[in-house]
Amino acid sequence: MDFIEKVKNKKELRDLDDAFLRRIIEGYKTKDFKKIRKDLRRVYGMFKSVKHKRSKEAYEMIFRITGRPKSVLDLGCGYSSGYFPFEDIKYYCTDIGYGYVKERGFIFDLLSDDYMKLPRVDVVLLFKVLESLEYFKRNVSKEVIRKLRCRYVVVSFDKKSLSGREIRKKGRSWFRRILGELNLNYEVLDYGDEIFFVIKKS
Ligand SMILES: C[S@@+](CC[C@H](N)C(=O)[O-])C[C@H]1O[C@@H](n2cnc3c(N)ncnc32)[C@H](O)[C@@H]1O
Repeated sequence: MDFIEKVKNKKELRDLDDAFLRRIIEGYKTKDFKKIRKDLRRVYGMFKSVKHKRSKEAYEMIFRITGRPKSVLDLGCGYSSGYFPFEDIKYYCTDIGYGYVKERGFIFDLLSDDYMKLPRVDVVLLFKVLESLEYFKRNVSKEVIRKLRCRYVVVSFDKKSLSGREIRKKGRSWFRRILGELNLNYEVLDYGDEIFFVIKKS
């Protein structure tokens, strides 16, 4: 059984894209399978049990700042792809898990796929995704924000850890620093368990 098959033996990692897994595994110096799978479970597996339905009100707050978009691209959409609450807004979504994108979206690895292949939209959503990316590639968030072609990017972070504990660094100073370096203006919304950065790109 090869490495990828072994990783996919765990139910919550089964639907991850093979090419994505191969790239992640190749990025490790160690070939300690247990360590790699543990990391993957930590970053991708644990969310499988969390189906968070974001309220329509949260989107409306965001759109009050961005203006009502004609099109939205939800990157690392997770289960949110099934809950986007506006029929009249064109909705695209991507993830690295097949179960998430189904018929509505497509597989796209934010760490290494070509951003020119993404549709140009009014608003890009990066809800609770950047920390997963940072785990495998530090400082990648800056590149990600820079490459996106849209009017606004909305990035969110969870205020609570999976165990329900309040995360101490709610201010996300590392992320504010990146936005400063990119010279981008943004507004912060604090809503429920989430903090949203509404970032103006053009
Ligand atoms: C915490 S979940 C958030 C899901 C959704 N955005 C939400 O807020 O409900 C993180 C998501 O990012 C996706 N993800 C992680 N790394 C990714 C990558 N390199 N490329 C694309 N998606 C990724 C995961 O598969 C997972 O669906």
